[in-house]
Amino acid sequence: MLEPIISIENLSCKSGNRYILHNINWQVNDGEHWLVFGKNGCGKTTLLSCIAGFKPVSSGMVKVLGETYTAENIFSLRKKVGWVSSSFFDNYFKNESALQIVLSGLFGTFNIDYDVRDQDVRTAKALLRELHMEYKMKQPFYMMSKGERQNVLIARALISKPKILLLDEPGTGLDIEAREYMMTSVATLAEQSKVTIIYVTHYPEEIQPFMNKAMLLQNGRIYKKGDLEDVIRQETLSMFFDRQVQIRKQENGRLQFMLEMKANALQLS
Ligand SMILES: Nc1ncnc2c1ncn2[C@@H]1O[C@H](COP(=O)(O)OP(=O)(O)O)[C@@H](O)[C@H]1O
Ligand SMILES: [Mg+2]
Repeated sequence: MLEPIISIENLSCKSGNRYILHNINWQVNDGEHWLVFGKNGCGKTTLLSCIAGFKPVSSGMVKVLGETYTAENIFSLRKKVGWVSSSFFDNYFKNESALQIVLSGLFGTFNIDYDVRDQDVRTAKALLRELHMEYKMKQPFYMMSKGERQNVLIARALISKPKILLLDEPGTGLDIEAREYMMTSVATLAEQSKVTIIYVTHYPEEIQPFMNKAMLLQNGRIYKKGDLEDVIRQETLSMFFDRQVQIRKQENGRLQFMLEMKANALQLS
C-alpha cells in the first residue's frame, strides 16, 4: 500500500497546562485535497505548523511523506512542504526583502545561509513577477500590505516545488481581484501538478471543486472529518456552530453559509 502523504497519530500540543491540540488522528492520502475549517483560536495554524516542521509536538507522531522531523532531515523535509501562513510568518519576518524571503524557501529556513545560485535568483524573481510583485522585490516585509505578504509567502512556498502545500487563510487580506487570481492558481496547481493541498479558510466562497475532503476543528479537537460533501452539510454545520446554518450555492457555484443570528451583540455602555 502507498504511504500516506501525511500521517498524524495522537498528536497533542500544549501551552503551559492548556491543550492547543488534543489527540489529533488524521491521514492525508495521495489524491486528496483538504479544507480545514474552524473558529478563531481552534488550533488550525498550530496543526499546520506541526506538519510544516515549524512547531515541535508535545506528544504523538507527525509523519510527512513517510518521515518524522529530526535534527538531520528538518531542512530538507521542510522544503517538501510549502507553508503559507501570514499569521505564522508575521512573527518572524521583519526587515527581510521579498526576494530574500522567497529564496529562504529553498533552504527551509527564515533566511539565506548558503550561496544562492543565479538560477535560483532568476526563479525567485520570475515567481514574484507572476504574483504581481515585480516592483516590490526589495521591499522589507514589515512595509508590505497584508496582500503583498501573502503573495511573497506563496512565492516562497512554490520555489522549492513542494509535494504538499499548506495554505493558512491565503485569501485573507487580498483584494477581490488578487483573491480570484490566487484561487485560480491554487486550483490549477491542484489539477495539473502532484501537489497535495491543505487549505484553511473562514470563507465558504473559497471552497473549490478540487477540494474533496474536509475537517472541522473545534477547541483543538477534530469535530468531524471525511469527504467534503459529508462534512460541509447544513445539519453538521448547525451542530458545529450551535445555531441554524443554511448553505446556499451562488450563481457562480460558490458556497455561502447563512448563520441564524443570536441576540448576543457586544454591549458598550
Ligand atoms: N505560541 C503560542 N503560545 C501560546 N499559545 C498559543 C501560541 N500560539 C497560539 N496559541 C493559542 O493556541 C490557540 C490556537 O491558536 P491557533 O493555532 O493560532 O488557532 P487558529 O489558527 O485556529 O486561529 C489559541 O488559543 C491561541 O491563543
Ligand atoms: Mg490561524
